[in-house]
Amino acid sequence: MMTATEPIEIFSVIRERRSVRNYTDREVPDEALRAIIAAGIQAPTALGLQPWQFVVARDKDLMQRVSDYCKPILVQNIGEEPRPGTKEFLAALKSPEFNIFYNAPVLVLVLGAREVVSSVLDCTLCAENMMLAAWALGIGSCWIGSAALVQQNPNLLAALKVPDDHQVVAPLIFGYPTPLLQKPERREPRITWIP
Ligand SMILES: Cc1cc2nc3c(=O)[nH]c(=O)nc-3n(C[C@H](O)[C@H](O)[C@H](O)COP(=O)(O)O)c2cc1C
Repeated sequence: MMTATEPIEIFSVIRERRSVRNYTDREVPDEALRAIIAAGIQAPTALGLQPWQFVVARDKDLMQRVSDYCKPILVQNIGEEPRPGTKEFLAALKSPEFNIFYNAPVLVLVLGAREVVSSVLDCTLCAENMMLAAWALGIGSCWIGSAALVQQNPNLLAALKVPDDHQVVAPLIFGYPTPLLQKPERREPRITWIP
């Protein structure tokens, strides 16, 4: 992993980034989160509408409440419709100690304006920029799609200060990684060239 003092080359950041699921207790400074969000908002958006807002949550109790709410719903959803790769996740979800945010020090929600048709696409591009920028700063991240279930819970949405006119598109955790595991291999891309 790179540190901010090393020269940064975009292809190596893209290649090396991986989802981080083990974090140290070290806090991510506000300044770093601002830099990460500043990178996020450089993403392209349909019609240039920039239909996003951000919530930065460091409240561990609130993250625990979100995790406790989502876990049984995930167990039920996965149980009803098992898919490739869900077996280990299902086992983890059944453990009381498991937290869907992997005890990361901070959660950042990328919120998309409901009235903008393209906001899910726009916010997804923003989120990838954020994860790459974080990696370039030596900060790990993971998109926690499981946490999007929070949208079904008005009390948690209120606690997370999500406005009614926005939806949670990308729940992202950030933190300093403990020693990293291998990045999952990529399959060879199937490319059709039309000369
Ligand atoms: C839309 C989306 C939702 C995801 N949700 C979760 C999640 O809920 N929990 C988790 O541990 N990882 C989640 N991930 C991370 C993926 O599992 C991860 O990106 C994938 O396994 C590839 O690994 P890599 O990011 O290290 O290359 C999500 C990723 C995306 C793009």
